[in-house]
Amino acid sequence: MKISIIGSGNVGATAAFFLAEKELGEIVLIDIVEGLPQGKALDMMQSAPLRGMDTNIVGSNDYQDTANSEIVVVTAGLARKPGMSRLDLLKENARIVKSIIESVVQYNPETKIMMVTNPLDAMTYLALKVSGFQRERVFGMGGVLDSARFRYFLARELGVSVKDASALVIGVHGEGMLPLPGHSAANGKPITEIMSKEKIDKLIEQTRGAGAEIVSLLKRGSAYFAPAASVAEMVEAVVKDKKVVLPCSVYLQGEYGLSDICLGTAVRLGKKGVEEVIELELTSEEKDFLNKSAAQLKENLKNLDSYLSDQV
Ligand code: NAI
Ligand code: 2OP
Repeated sequence: MKISIIGSGNVGATAAFFLAEKELGEIVLIDIVEGLPQGKALDMMQSAPLRGMDTNIVGSNDYQDTANSEIVVVTAGLARKPGMSRLDLLKENARIVKSIIESVVQYNPETKIMMVTNPLDAMTYLALKVSGFQRERVFGMGGVLDSARFRYFLARELGVSVKDASALVIGVHGEGMLPLPGHSAANGKPITEIMSKEKIDKLIEQTRGAGAEIVSLLKRGSAYFAPAASVAEMVEAVVKDKKVVLPCSVYLQGEYGLSDICLGTAVRLGKKGVEEVIELELTSEEKDFLNKSAAQLKENLKNLDSYLSDQV
């Protein structure tokens, strides 16, 4: 079993380490920078006796080493820098992601692709189009991270174990995310029954601002421990064929009245990738919010299309 990770930066390398600890298979770390994936792979392998991991991590700059991966995770690209608009980021990362997906597909015609690079939902859409894969085999990590953040804030606010807090966030990763209080609970009770609307709104604001809060604290770069843990959770669901329901970015074909767009909803993840796309019941307020953020994303995707045709 081979799991490949493209991009050996903060998210890619940390995800490799979390996955190695799970002993799910061999991990291939790829980067454009020579020596970087090799050095990080060696460093991680030297911790194997201490961490008790009987697994192998290989660093490489050659896509041939990813051949026949069960799943390929794409974390390569830039994070937004000060002064950079979302559209600037989209253009920069689209160029990088397009060429990466072409190389991935060349050596992995049967694989599943998990996108992480931002802007996440646009990059998932791009990966789907460039790969030519069915929607089952291309999905993005955003909702698992956003839901983990909501869950953490909820558990902290209520003083309960994170294990007793559940939360669900769908929609567009970033400001367009849609936390769903009706699908969130603590100690088995829906939070809408045990918390005031003001408290819930405060937690939603915290969740929406969580990525930006970390960027402003770190000053260089963005969050990577929770993102990498989210990647590991999703990879495990696929390679162990767990068929667990997780929020992921996926190509919509009429769900929520939306089509030809990728955004987050609940999906069943297993060996085939996205084995079911689940359309959740939303309040009319939630539907309006989802429609607005989908419209904004479509506007950006229009730019993406024209940008990519400029390249050809
Ligand atoms: P990073 O800068 O630490 O790592 C990015 C890596 O990509 C670098 O090592 C770089 O050399 C490599 N790279 C650049 N161009 C490449 C190419 N053409 N081929 C192969 N490798 C290439 O960044 P970090 O923190 O790991 O974040 C990576 C991406 O993930 C960013 O776009 C970030 O915004 C996104 N992200 C998304 C999250 C999500 O929830 N979807 C969460 C956290 C980060
Ligand atoms: C985050 O939410 C940057 O997308 C990344 O932390």
